[in-house]
Amino acid sequence: MKGIVLAGGSGTRLYPTSLAVSKQLIPVYDKPTVYYPLATLMLAGIRDILVISSPPDLPQFRRLLGDGGSLGLNISYAQQDRPNGLAEAFLIGSEHIGPDSVALALGDNIFHGPGFSALLQETARDLEGCALFGYIVNDPQRYGVGEVDPAGRLVSIEEKPNVPKSNRAITGLYFYDNDVVDIAKDIRPSARGELEITDVNLAYLAQGRARLVDLGRGFTWLDTGTPESLLAASQYVHTLESRQHVRIACIEEIALHMGYIDADACRRLGEKMGGSQYGQYVIEVAGGWPG
Ligand code: G1P
Repeated sequence: MKGIVLAGGSGTRLYPTSLAVSKQLIPVYDKPTVYYPLATLMLAGIRDILVISSPPDLPQFRRLLGDGGSLGLNISYAQQDRPNGLAEAFLIGSEHIGPDSVALALGDNIFHGPGFSALLQETARDLEGCALFGYIVNDPQRYGVGEVDPAGRLVSIEEKPNVPKSNRAITGLYFYDNDVVDIAKDIRPSARGELEITDVNLAYLAQGRARLVDLGRGFTWLDTGTPESLLAASQYVHTLESRQHVRIACIEEIALHMGYIDADACRRLGEKMGGSQYGQYVIEVAGGWPG
């Protein structure tokens, strides 16, 4: 399975913070936002990842992540000239996807919870059509909203409905088989002029090939699209990391644990950042922490 991190969009809800820097490069507590979706793809076992961003922001992502080799990844880059919508990722990324299945992770989505890696790997292995990840929220009208029947099967999806049929948000992580490229080619822009991911999902739903994976109540899903949600995400990460001496979305630690790099390579990455607590943590992890 290939991976795509979509780090585009104009980030208008974060202005002026995102006027001169991509919203996915702004920190969530101790690391750039894009580390979180990158960590998600890595935990799914994906190593071949395309980062899509706007022409002015792309060089900064390249500077941050390089070719991914030091993490045992293969990271490539492509530009989205205008914020034409999430589904454009499959057109821009069609060559990268090739004959494979693909996971799309939105650049501002944070997932954290027990058993996440196993859930992702299982979902990727059993993929038929598409798999969407649902999460119960207080404010579903901000998101794509999924409605399920009593058996838990997905029956409808609506993009930011004024009157949501449920509280189940469709989160910014999507697994698709290879048909997604052809499906995306047939999507037409919505009323707001964007190629909507929800229209891709509706096409799979119409074929009876859209599966919903519920992220349970012990799970955390956050996005960072507004100053409030960005602060809440930073506070969440800070609270956990300071209490438990763990790091969420530490991509060097994940690379080590997934077997993408060895302990020496991990230590070298930590030493490059040895002036920060994050760097010190990476060095500790390379030495066997947490035991
Ligand atoms: C996008 C999708 C929406 C999804 C959300 C998750 O919305 O269109 O369906 O629920 O991401 O973060 P956006 O945040 O781009 O407005």
